Amino acid sequence: GQAIAQQGNGQGAIACLSCHGPQGEGNAAGGFPRLAGLPAGYLSHQLRSYRDGTRQNPMMQPFALALTDEDIQAVSAYYASLEGEDVNLPTSYQAAAPENTAEWLAERGDWENTIPACNQCHGPNGQGVGDTFPPLAGQHASYLAAQLNAWRNGTRSNDPNGLMQGIAERLSEEQIGLITAYYATL
Ligand code: HEM
Ligand code: HEM
Repeated sequence: GQAIAQQGNGQGAIACLSCHGPQGEGNAAGGFPRLAGLPAGYLSHQLRSYRDGTRQNPMMQPFALALTDEDIQAVSAYYASLEGEDVNLPTSYQAAAPENTAEWLAERGDWENTIPACNQCHGPNGQGVGDTFPPLAGQHASYLAAQLNAWRNGTRSNDPNGLMQGIAERLSEEQIGLITAYYATL
């Protein structure tokens, strides 16, 4: 991966660093995005997309077309591994490790289990949005858990478009305990 980034692959993909910078930091003036620290799966998806034309860009496409599946995997893993002091970045962005905490679930969701962030609908800090999305902040944990369980066992099915039922079904018992305790303290 590092070799491709710094020297190209010898098959038509020139060194990535000529545009994306020596540390994958990108170049704002040139319109070259930062690659350092982006998730490997995201990077490889973008490279395959340039290759198959579902993402079109005349500058990137020829290089993506010259990369094999192996190249894509290696160079994506390399850029994903660059972080912190290796990279001289103008912003404070740092890739964070996923953690199964209530705050994580509330703000980012658990996409491996197709659970969106609660705050996406219930608003920043679970403060609620309009007449449709009730606040969760400050509600009793036992009540919140009882509602999630009500969707799971079918005694509550009043949610518009089934928005809550699927989420309630996909949450683990452990996540229900964590998330309801979290909102109760906000
Ligand atoms: C975008 C990887 C070489 C110019 C991207 C993206 C990736 C990538 C993953 C998408 C980033 C995102 O979605 O956040 C690579 C790799 C390279 C390479 C692995 C080496 C094999 C180059 C070179 C140039 C270049 C040599 C300049 C001639 C660009 C530009 C974009 C881009 C302009 C933005 C295109 C758009 O708006 O869709 N590159 N790149 N890349 N790259 Fe590269
Ligand atoms: C209602 C929890 C994510 C949409 C509720 C209630 C709870 C809850 C406990 C009942 C509140 C009450 O009865 O006062 C959660 C948790 C989530 C989550 C823990 C994240 C894991 C979402 C998301 C959406 C959503 C992502 C939107 C796609 C709704 C709606 C209601 C509701 C529309 C009101 C249903 C009705 O009209 O009765 N949620 N929620 N929720 N939630 Fe969520």
